[in-house]
Amino acid sequence: MHRRLLVPGVLATGLMLAIPASAADYTPGAPSIGDSYYPAAGNGGYDVSHYDLRLKYQPKTDLLEGTATILATTTQDLSRFNLDFALKVSEVRVNGKKAKFKKTGEQELQITPAAGLPKDTPVTVVVRYADKPSTVKVNDWTSWVRTPDGAVAAQEPESAAWWYPSNDHPLDKATYDISVSVPEGSQAISNGTLQSTSSKLGWTRYSWRSSKPQATYLTTLAVGKFDVTTDTTASGLPVVNAYSKDLGENGGAARASIERSGEAVEFLETVFGPYPFNALGGYVPNVTSGFALETQTRPFYSPKQFAKGANVSVVVHELAHQWYGDSVSLGDWADIWLNEGFASYAQWLWSEHEGEGTAQELADYIYDSYPADDPFWTVKPGNPGADKQFDGAVYDRGALTLQALRNEIGDKAFFEILKGWPTERAHGNARIPEFVAYAEKVSGKDLGSFFDTWLFQPQKPAGATAKAAGL
Ligand code: ARG
Ligand code: ZN
Repeated sequence: MHRRLLVPGVLATGLMLAIPASAADYTPGAPSIGDSYYPAAGNGGYDVSHYDLRLKYQPKTDLLEGTATILATTTQDLSRFNLDFALKVSEVRVNGKKAKFKKTGEQELQITPAAGLPKDTPVTVVVRYADKPSTVKVNDWTSWVRTPDGAVAAQEPESAAWWYPSNDHPLDKATYDISVSVPEGSQAISNGTLQSTSSKLGWTRYSWRSSKPQATYLTTLAVGKFDVTTDTTASGLPVVNAYSKDLGENGGAARASIERSGEAVEFLETVFGPYPFNALGGYVPNVTSGFALETQTRPFYSPKQFAKGANVSVVVHELAHQWYGDSVSLGDWADIWLNEGFASYAQWLWSEHEGEGTAQELADYIYDSYPADDPFWTVKPGNPGADKQFDGAVYDRGALTLQALRNEIGDKAFFEILKGWPTERAHGNARIPEFVAYAEKVSGKDLGSFFDTWLFQPQKPAGATAKAAGL
């Protein structure tokens, strides 16, 4: 309302007239950030810098009560804007004043402040809410998983909408303070460093801080009964690991794997450069699912991943994501290869480091495992589609692509790229064409048709395979 507009027509007459913009110039922020796979994800009109979440969770009833304070900056003259959120909201304030709000979709909370918000100004949004997240469905699905003694929010591409309102897309990263009150005897595990714990009236409050930009899907919360181990790495990083007290016979293998996180980071630093965060760890809640997730600084692991014994490889995969995915984040979910191809390739490098088969041997094994008519080759790692985003081919052909690149440009340029990219792009976002341009710059080679063959064609790359070109 107070912004001054210069109107070109007026300029043409030679008169410099400053005309105050009317309320009509204030427009709604887009209900989407424009992702090619997930149109409901994220919003336009503002950019979040910090989330402060003050929560209370009762495992017995699944009642989550919270107040989220969001610090953002407007990127347009804003008449209203959306947050992505699925839970029931009782009050919204914008810059201290009560704002109108309504649900306009399963996970769209539309907020209309009392007055328009001018472009490029800071705005503080407070959202109060209470709900039972496991009962809240979006597209018939809930990302909030109850366990026998608590609950977990850890899912990709989204889980935030079940526990805090956000601009839910990796393009809008922010820092976090997450403070969670749980019944005494339970713990709350989240990202970053544990700033404090305090108990009163039968409740214990855990306050966690993530002080580097963090994507919404990489923000995690677990409540339950955990054994918590704390340590410091040789380079001074604080390490906090948490193991559900209810891991049964998988507990030993889980610990034997995750307690090697510091060693894995030390190895990964030799190929990717300095670890991008100031805390480290892992946690294993008593869930029944079978996946892991690179939640920032503190990956989530499910007990099943340790059912066959120790699995340091999965730890290496999730920690590799700290560089490829968490520090350098996707600009669009179609770019998932930038996460999974590199984290999978790190597992091959670790195998080689451990004397258990070289990256070339593992690449040959994958290449030879699938005949040309196998559906494996129909998945394009560079744009697999939302339904195939986490298909095994994105991981395996994704890693194979990197071994083929290594053979194409030689070890020197290849390892310069593996380290240079996360160093140059630390804490930012990137898309595949930017990576291709970077690889071309470092190697001095035209790699357009190479990447087209390996990432974007729905068939088995022939001729210049990883094996045939093997150096
Ligand atoms: N980024 C995760 C990983 O590769 C994959 C998570 C996929 N989600 C799932 N529900 N399977 O470590
Ligand atoms: Zn992964």
